[in-house]
Amino acid sequence: MEQYHLKTKDRINLGSYYTSTEHTNTVWKFVRSYIDDSWTVLDSSCGYGNFLSYNTRCQKIGNDIDSTAVSSAKTNIPTARFFNHNALYDVSREKYGISKDSRLCIVGNPPYNDKTSMIRNDIKKVKFSIDTDIDTRDLGVSFLRSYAKLDADIVCVLHPLSYLIKKANFNCLKDFAKNYKLVKTKVISSDSFSQTSKTMQFPIVIALYQKEENGMSYDYIQNFDFELENSLIFKQNNYDYISNYIAKYPNKYATVDRDSILFWTMRDINALRRNRTFVNKNNQNAIIVKKDKLDYYIYVDVFKRYASCVPYYLGNCDVIIDDGLFKQYKKYFILDSLFYQHHLRKYYAVFDFEQTKYKSIAKQYIEKYFKILLGEHYANS
Ligand SMILES: C[S@@+](CC[C@H](N)C(=O)[O-])C[C@H]1O[C@@H](n2cnc3c(N)ncnc32)[C@H](O)[C@@H]1O
Repeated sequence: MEQYHLKTKDRINLGSYYTSTEHTNTVWKFVRSYIDDSWTVLDSSCGYGNFLSYNTRCQKIGNDIDSTAVSSAKTNIPTARFFNHNALYDVSREKYGISKDSRLCIVGNPPYNDKTSMIRNDIKKVKFSIDTDIDTRDLGVSFLRSYAKLDADIVCVLHPLSYLIKKANFNCLKDFAKNYKLVKTKVISSDSFSQTSKTMQFPIVIALYQKEENGMSYDYIQNFDFELENSLIFKQNNYDYISNYIAKYPNKYATVDRDSILFWTMRDINALRRNRTFVNKNNQNAIIVKKDKLDYYIYVDVFKRYASCVPYYLGNCDVIIDDGLFKQYKKYFILDSLFYQHHLRKYYAVFDFEQTKYKSIAKQYIEKYFKILLGEHYANS
């Protein structure tokens, strides 16, 4: 069921984007072979209870901070027990009447709401308390940590793929990563949720975790085969990244002079889609380009123009590169970039930029580069 009772502001605040049957079915498909009728299944942020409508003889428990949602859930799923608690405060099994020795499976789609994010910062305000041992800047990460605190045996939830593949986020998982191991995934697009912004898709993962003594390391995630909807596999370590060649962030101690070439901070591919590349004026987001690395910044400038052939699931990765191939095709990248960045032409005096035919030749070769770089992941749009 689609969420219908909240105003935009509250929907964003609570992260109330409800999950379609297609995705809740995937979650049940993933957990089915791990659980039996003796288990308890909990969704601690259940909305209208979409995840609990599955026909099973397990004990089903739902909870949500939103009392209207809980009322609907009670009507929708008479076979489950419901609570109206803040799931991140005073986290314990007792709160839901789950005994210590029950085998517990947590399902759901917790809210993802980066409290510090710039996007829609005006309306994002978290009003409820969070236990200090699970408090992080992102609500979704706090939810994952609350599952560890509840000592779940199996966790199968939807969350942004960036929680795993961005190292800084992965490090925030703390006890969750220490005690749980990713075993099965399906990556879906944020686009498959109605009511979310359609301007920038980001990857969401339906992730099955199993409690395991040694948990998982970041290295394990980098080598994990993430399953995609089109039955392809995405593995982070299949690619080389621009961060292995150039600085992505400004150096506080570098000084700018009249000759400095400036480039906007690089975060991930989705940020590059939104942001600028070369900039004229210095500011705190500007990187001073080392001249001997200029070719790589040019690469990123071109990458931005061709980013539509990069699939959404790479959106949270650094800019990817095949350095050997780039070296072969470099002159076409330089030609393409310098058609736009006139102020850099003085560094490449060997090229005759007035020859407009070069523009289409460069395009041809760059397209070829991206087809080889991305292979079966090349997106046609
Ligand atoms: C993405 S929705 C998911 C709802 C439902 N599981 C589904 O997928 O259809 C997130 C839900 O988390 C609830 N929520 C947000 N903060 C919460 C909190 N601190 N405690 C409990 N529920 C919370 C919201 O009210 C919302 O219903």
